[in-house]
Amino acid sequence: MTLLDDPDTGLAPLQFAVTKNLAAKTTAQREELLRDPVFGTAFTDHMVDICWSVGGGWHRPRVQPYGPLSLDPAAAVLHYGQEIFEGIKAYRHADGSIHTFRPRQNGLRLQRSARRLALPELPVEYFVQSLRELIAVDGAWVPSGADQSLYLRPFMFAKEAFLGVRPANKVNYYVIASPVGAYFKGGAKPVSIWLSEDYARAGKGGTGAAKTGGNYAASLLPQAEAYEEGCDQVVFLDQDRNVEELGGMNIVFVYKDGTIVTPQSDSILEGITRDSLLQLAVDRGHKVEGRDVSIDEWRSGVASGDIVEVFACGTAAVVAPIGVLKGRGFFDEQPTGPLALSLREELTDIQYGRREDTHGWLVRLDG
Ligand SMILES: Cc1ncc(COP(=O)(O)O)c(C=O)c1O
Repeated sequence: MTLLDDPDTGLAPLQFAVTKNLAAKTTAQREELLRDPVFGTAFTDHMVDICWSVGGGWHRPRVQPYGPLSLDPAAAVLHYGQEIFEGIKAYRHADGSIHTFRPRQNGLRLQRSARRLALPELPVEYFVQSLRELIAVDGAWVPSGADQSLYLRPFMFAKEAFLGVRPANKVNYYVIASPVGAYFKGGAKPVSIWLSEDYARAGKGGTGAAKTGGNYAASLLPQAEAYEEGCDQVVFLDQDRNVEELGGMNIVFVYKDGTIVTPQSDSILEGITRDSLLQLAVDRGHKVEGRDVSIDEWRSGVASGDIVEVFACGTAAVVAPIGVLKGRGFFDEQPTGPLALSLREELTDIQYGRREDTHGWLVRLDG
């Protein structure tokens, strides 16, 4: 199930117009914000903005001061939710250079999301260039502390002011960025998961495989239920009671013979972290399977000792071992083992330049 990091197609780069933020944070203010960043609360001084229209294609590429967008109240996104996004990080290496991880995969996934949401497909070259352009002005915002990074949030939505239900003829693509530290307080300590039985995140033929706001909107009520139940995160099932994924992370099961199994279906977001961790596991000689895992297989596998580790993974949190699965009428402690954390260490070592990048996953963003 390994995704291929495609080669360049040779598309000419866009010519970005850069407008510097005259009210940019001072060095002291930025350093204060970088000291202990809380996920998604502070933003850099600039953002990328590219327009698209049916007649004009991708045009007016800009880097401009970070700030509010002006939106017509009839903008289609506000009514019908035609929106997609990505999440990817920039890492500072010990020599000061700035790198990102498998950006072409995020660019290709943005294209798949665009197809499903009837939005225009941004060429992958433009996607990668948009990250470089933002880093060119806001590189100083990439923090250098342990587990810190600059979270990049590319997104695209229907801007056309039109209340008819059809794909918009005017769309904008943006990239904003936010310095982040560890996603879960307490680092990689095991998380507790609430099994959502009343709510689905996605349906067959729906938008589950796309990174679109509606999927996350649908996950908020069950996530609130998880908090009420004292759990950190929620896990969803499909209509056949197969495990799908968490609200914002994929799930992986480790069996006692070393086989690693992860749900694979067209209602799950194909995670780049998961793909990379599974590749590292294959490199170590593990067998990896993408297939249905029913909730009964999960619970009975843990009870019998066949399943020896369960973990969640995604860009924001990297790897989160699952310590508890709670559902209506049950509380199953989960076995934890060394694999999740050692794969996490290997992956983050590559991302932060502490270990050789034998798969060619890193792409330098500065210089
Ligand atoms: C619903 C969902 N599943 C899985 C993932 C993991 O994807 P990735 O590893 O590409 O971040 C994410 C995003 O992080 C997500 O939002």
